[in-house]
Amino acid sequence: MSLSIRQIHPVFVGEVSGIDLAEPLSREETAAIEAGMDRYAVLVFHDQRIADEQQMAFSRNFGPLEDARGGTIAQSEDKRLQTGMNDVSNLGRDGRPLPRDSRVRLFNLGNMLWHSDSSFRAVPAKYSLLSARVVNPTGGNTEFADMRAAYDSLDAATKALIEHLVCEHSLMYSRGSLGMLDYSDEERAMFRPVRQRLVRTHPVTGRKSLYLSSHAGAIVDMPTPEARILLRDPNEHATQPRFVYVHEWRSWDLVMWDNRQMMHRVRRYDESQPRDMRRTTVAGDAPTTAQVQAA
Ligand SMILES: [Fe+2]
Repeated sequence: MSLSIRQIHPVFVGEVSGIDLAEPLSREETAAIEAGMDRYAVLVFHDQRIADEQQMAFSRNFGPLEDARGGTIAQSEDKRLQTGMNDVSNLGRDGRPLPRDSRVRLFNLGNMLWHSDSSFRAVPAKYSLLSARVVNPTGGNTEFADMRAAYDSLDAATKALIEHLVCEHSLMYSRGSLGMLDYSDEERAMFRPVRQRLVRTHPVTGRKSLYLSSHAGAIVDMPTPEARILLRDPNEHATQPRFVYVHEWRSWDLVMWDNRQMMHRVRRYDESQPRDMRRTTVAGDAPTTAQVQAA
């Protein structure tokens, strides 16, 4: 096995070499990548010319793919990619950038807010894997914030304050913060808030991290304004430059990250030009806390 990983940021992020993601992985390679994820939480692979099928096959080494239903307002007839692929491009089925007033485009602008993928699901995602097929000519960097390092550097009083708090996450909270407040009854049911612990513990390493996301819009047993103000401080703390890695995309980069330990966001780009990014998502295996049963 010629795979090696080099840390490229002071606190996290590994750059992986010596592997071709288009080929099936050996057991040793899979184990090395999984161990790399536990340690670095973000792994960068360059020059990986993969098709959707190969991206899905690579992703399945780390667990079953997440069922994408409930994570978008796009109707199935509008979808550009097959089941199993999350379309995080700015493109419609015709391959052209979505028009300015497209509701899907406006909804997707929420990806510019710091978030953890699928924190709005009762069982939130494990890994996300993002493949750059067409890089936008201007901007579109993805930024990652290490929520373990952020947690470690909190003072003891703050750690005690947040230790047992449970947040409510919903796509309606993140989009609501951008002024998108109108949803159909079907969407409201689909985006019903779920509960997530604010501090979670990694199942392998035992490290604690902040589990923050723009989807978090309430805290159980706390008035909403108090909850939202309380959440601002750890969000500002966790996204300081010292905890953030900025990924400048090259064509055929693949970046995978652990949503249990990271937040991320995309930065502004030229929306008149294509940005074709395709994500696969490895499902998590357990909720972070008990859920309230639907009435
Ligand atoms: Fe995301």
